[in-house]
Amino acid sequence: MPSSKPYRIAVNTGGGDAPGLNAVIRAVVLSALSEGWEVFGIRQGYQGLVQGDGVVPLDRASVQGITHLGGTILGTTNRGNPFEWPRTLPDGSIEMVDRSPEILDVFAEHGLDALVAIGGDGSLHIASELSKRGLPVVGVPKTIDNDLAATQVTFGFHTAVQTATDAIDKLHSTAHSHERVMVVELMGRHTGWITLYAGISGSADAIVIPEIPFGMESLAEAIRAKYERGPRYAIVVVAEGARPDGGEPSLVDAGGDGKNPRYGGMGEWVARELEERTGFEARNLVLGHLQRGGQPTAYDRLLALRFGSAAVDLVAQGHFGCMVSLDPPDVHGVPLEEAVATLKTVPPDGDQVRTARRLGISFGD
Ligand code: F6P
Repeated sequence: MPSSKPYRIAVNTGGGDAPGLNAVIRAVVLSALSEGWEVFGIRQGYQGLVQGDGVVPLDRASVQGITHLGGTILGTTNRGNPFEWPRTLPDGSIEMVDRSPEILDVFAEHGLDALVAIGGDGSLHIASELSKRGLPVVGVPKTIDNDLAATQVTFGFHTAVQTATDAIDKLHSTAHSHERVMVVELMGRHTGWITLYAGISGSADAIVIPEIPFGMESLAEAIRAKYERGPRYAIVVVAEGARPDGGEPSLVDAGGDGKNPRYGGMGEWVARELEERTGFEARNLVLGHLQRGGQPTAYDRLLALRFGSAAVDLVAQGHFGCMVSLDPPDVHGVPLEEAVATLKTVPPDGDQVRTARRLGISFGD
């Protein structure tokens, strides 16, 4: 703990945005100010540190009225890994260089004592590596995917589930009117948490998630049975990272050069297959980044504010290389390295999946 000089801490937001980021920033800033510290924001994830020009002072006014706002006032990127920074060579080719030493230099130049790094899997991995190289870091777990094992839940997830559930609710009437199968592709590259929770809450007829490989014929049979039973329409929710039994997830080549594969296309494939196999008209909706936008729910706001406050507590105690974690009823610190080591996946025989099955929801298995 510093004594003779005011403590100077920095905060950044990395990776894909999630509702609640601004609430964390506000809690970090106000908690730090209440300790008599100075606070600085780093722009665009780690970019502001690598380039050295993105360190901005944050005061009470900077974080006024932002608790309920989606996005992040600091900006973010999921392409700013300082350990693999692209550098263009004279012949136009690109090589990856490690610019992490510059982060440590810029940190020291600004007289910063600690970094609160708000991020998901990727950004917290970077935080963990920087911590091993001597940067005093406290992590805050963010991701709508809810796939970090070391915390009961990440902020942003609750809002994304609500957004997805609202969308499914609205699809019931149009699907029913047209007697159609509506397929909804939801986010979740490696895990099906959003799809599972929204699918159950929104009364889907089938839920397709990466943790339970599906059979197309089994899915088609479930839809035929639903039409027979009535009402004659169906809602199928598909996680973007889902894969058919014995098959692979669907990837799209974002840059057209094979270097930037992204998950996507599984919903469309499922819709086409279902239409062909059942004869029922099927349409696909990709909800996409809507799930990351908008105002955080009250649950996510509170969780984000608690995480921000707890992160400042960990800094004050000198507990670096940690991540704040919800372990009800408390928020406490867990080692960052452990926190990023395991992905939290949906247990196929857990109570949520069991509940869904009892409600007559098919997983296509
Ligand atoms: O990690 C959250 C997430 O929303 C994933 O579910 C999704 O695949 C990804 O981000 C998309 O990120 P972007 O389009 O920003 O690259």
